Amino acid sequence: MIKIYKGNILYTETSEKFTIVKNGYIAVEEGIIEGVYSQPPEKYKNILPEVDTKGLIIPGFNDVHVHAPQWVNAGMGFSLELLPWLEKYTFAVEGNYKDAEFARSSYSLTIEEMKKNGTTRASMFATSHSEGTKILIELLRKSGMGALVGKVNMDRNSIEGLMEDTLTSANETVELIEWMNSTKNNDNVDYIVTPRYVPCTTAELMKKLSEIVNKYNLPVQSHLDENKDEIKWVKELHPECRDFTSVYNDYGLMPKGQTVMAHCVHCSDDELIMLKEREVMIAHCPQSNANLSSGMMPLRKYMDAGLKIGLGSDVGGAHSLNMREHIVETIKTSKLYWTVFPEYKPVSFSEAFYLATKGGGSFFGKVGSFEKGYQFDALVIDDENLINEIPHNLEERLERFVYVGSHENIVKKYVAGKLI
Ligand code: GUN
Ligand code: FE
Repeated sequence: MIKIYKGNILYTETSEKFTIVKNGYIAVEEGIIEGVYSQPPEKYKNILPEVDTKGLIIPGFNDVHVHAPQWVNAGMGFSLELLPWLEKYTFAVEGNYKDAEFARSSYSLTIEEMKKNGTTRASMFATSHSEGTKILIELLRKSGMGALVGKVNMDRNSIEGLMEDTLTSANETVELIEWMNSTKNNDNVDYIVTPRYVPCTTAELMKKLSEIVNKYNLPVQSHLDENKDEIKWVKELHPECRDFTSVYNDYGLMPKGQTVMAHCVHCSDDELIMLKEREVMIAHCPQSNANLSSGMMPLRKYMDAGLKIGLGSDVGGAHSLNMREHIVETIKTSKLYWTVFPEYKPVSFSEAFYLATKGGGSFFGKVGSFEKGYQFDALVIDDENLINEIPHNLEERLERFVYVGSHENIVKKYVAGKLI
């Protein structure tokens, strides 16, 4: 059955500019976009639109790197850098997810906050607890959001209560994957293998996880080149590997086109070549990189090199799950970067919007745009309170929504054609 959505349509087929259809029509069949039209198509003229708005219709936001357990702890310890912050704040809060009731109520808050702000899909870390991860998966299925979720694997350099025995870590991962497959019911929630990062996973565990990735044909998410002390530590732990990226690659944890690596602030040119060859999705996390003094990722350089890039909140390294805020952080950081490195020009509004929609969306399939064949993941924006006497064109209206609007402007959210 065809459904019609009428309004001012904006999306980024390419990052350079918005595709804009004023008072246009999106035709959707079984959750998939059939076409975008400026005139009501003759063949659909008898269909009453599902949505008929004077506001905006845009793709939903994709958060390609977020820690669901850390939202209840976000905004603390930001005078520390990564390694002491992980010890003192992150591992400490994640220990609580052994308790199912704590997990249920805390994960509910995270999902509610993400949905409220128009995040329609996310790639998520849970904790190393299997039961807690199942609870997160069940809550996500109920929410209607699209997600990739993984139980965190870690068998070294963590704390009592989070650290696992190597075999248990691998076995519980398999058990979770099998459970997820057997309980799948027409939802958009899938498993992603989640080694926390190299310092927390032994070579033996990485090898076992790689076998799981191959057996079940699964994607992988982890952290890469976030902080200089972290990079130095990885060098000490793995003298047998050329660099941090090679550790993941050598141990079989970079499946081609199915890997997301968060941060990538300090990658060498050799590492960039490897990331490009493995078609790795880079999760750009500018708010977290500032909060933890990790550094500025050379975004323009990576874009020019043709790397795949999406935006990650990285809560709790970040203090917001709102992807509009991360679009703004992306633009601001690229401007500051340009004042230091004038050869790398700042990113435009359309480029940052692209990263938060089609860029990151490509990790979930045909997601993040309104081209034919894409999943209808969309937000309906009522921006009447943001329009004043000054005339605004549609791109300016979207920019105002992103910079000064609120979640209250988002009146409807769709994932794969379903109202959530
Ligand atoms: N590296 C390993 N674990 C984490 C985490 O939880 N947050 C961030 N920002 N970096 C990490
Ligand atoms: Fe992270």
